[in-house]
Amino acid sequence: ATAQNRVTVNASDGKTVINRHIYGHFAEHLGRCIYDGFYVGETNTKIPNKNGVRLDVIEALKKMKIPNLRWPGGCFADTYHWKDGIGPKAKRPKIVNTWWGGVTEDNSFGTHDFLNMCELLGTEPYLAGNVGSGTVQDLSDWVQYVNFPNNSPMSTLRQQNGRKTPWNVRYWGVGNEAWGCGGNMTADYYANIYRQYATFMGTQVGKETIFRIASGASSDDFNWTETLMKNIPGKMVEGVALHHYSTFGWGPNEKGSATEFTETDYAHTMNEALKMDTFVQKHSEIMDKYDPQKKIALVVDEWGAWYEVEPKTNPGFLYQQNTMRDAILTGATLNIFHKHAERVRMANLAQAVNVLQAVILTKGDKMLLTPTYHVLEMYNVHQDATMLPIDLKTEDYTSGKYKLPAISASASRDQAGKVHISLVNIDAGKPQTVTVNLKGVSATSLTGRILTSAKVQDHNTFEQPNKVKPVPFTGATRNGDVLTVTLPPVSVVVLEMK
Ligand code: AHR
Repeated sequence: ATAQNRVTVNASDGKTVINRHIYGHFAEHLGRCIYDGFYVGETNTKIPNKNGVRLDVIEALKKMKIPNLRWPGGCFADTYHWKDGIGPKAKRPKIVNTWWGGVTEDNSFGTHDFLNMCELLGTEPYLAGNVGSGTVQDLSDWVQYVNFPNNSPMSTLRQQNGRKTPWNVRYWGVGNEAWGCGGNMTADYYANIYRQYATFMGTQVGKETIFRIASGASSDDFNWTETLMKNIPGKMVEGVALHHYSTFGWGPNEKGSATEFTETDYAHTMNEALKMDTFVQKHSEIMDKYDPQKKIALVVDEWGAWYEVEPKTNPGFLYQQNTMRDAILTGATLNIFHKHAERVRMANLAQAVNVLQAVILTKGDKMLLTPTYHVLEMYNVHQDATMLPIDLKTEDYTSGKYKLPAISASASRDQAGKVHISLVNIDAGKPQTVTVNLKGVSATSLTGRILTSAKVQDHNTFEQPNKVKPVPFTGATRNGDVLTVTLPPVSVVVLEMK
């Protein structure tokens, strides 16, 4: 059949770098993300670990090239008093994790544990400060504790707790979801509070400057962004956040199963996910009015799919499986971020391990990589590469009442001159053939990898951890400046030309 899908790669028009930080992750004190996820404790475990952090998890995340990790929340961040999590573990106070299952939080994983883990991962920490129930002094002390090189009460305390040199944490969230779990504030009120907190955080971090992220809007709350941009002076903020989850509804039992769903349910999820394009576009337009030079980043610091928890698991722990549906969602969302690379310079998938759209699931000493992991690993070639703008003409994919683009795509050129093109076939019903026009790509060799499976519901289990995994792709042929690529239904392909 003649291809009705056309991608034109404008290889000479690349100017914007795809910031590697859009490939960031999120680790909240929620369910089994930290405890029994990242962290298994130093004692009473046979699982290989360094200071209690699982080595298999570290190795997998390094391979995926995790660029940053946000912690300790989420909603938990606005209940978290960081001083509870330093010093001898036995003496740390036990608190209630009020947002997530009402379980006891023993604070055994605290600031040192997290920041040392980030060093092990080779990733940049992104600390979310407590604005909802903390104080200006607490947050300013936290910055001092982790970043101040010379003598001060906080840096002395840090040294007494075993860490001589500062960690130099650049990325700081000033509260989280201030419109909801972060304090149910109005946008105007939060804008003022933000200014107050930001004033006392200091600006220098080692040789660099601090990167403060204002708690942002949910999905289409454009008024939130407008109010923040209008009321917070540009020199006081480096990033404004945005959260968007793909779900079926927020009511009890409305979110649908992560693994048992129809093709039209899949189309629904994708429809929700693809709204990211419009949301990012509109929030960016508002930011452009106040910040035409795009100095302030749009930071999508929570995104992903949110389903019902797996049967027989704690509803407050948000443990869900992860299928090819989630892989398609990931590929398409990253393509959207690439397209908006000028303004979207950081993002965090929710969440890294055992929570929501996780890249890793664990069970005892077992660990598996989800389809979402594989997409992030395949796409990591785009990190810090120059985005090559594309023109896309795509067929429609329809299921039930949903009409979606069948194809999602993006392209970049890395520092070594290699060109990568990412193509997603969203269509669950049939293969799609795409004609790719390579204006100005001189590279000749062509290789590729594909992630796909027979059914969109397919996923990895602890019994069958490698059911869904990337394999070499042979469905592309090049003829002069034209590639012809045949994509199976629900597939993610990354092509490399060098
Ligand atoms: O990621 C789970 C929760 O979703 C976060 O804690 C909160 O910020 C959001 O509502």
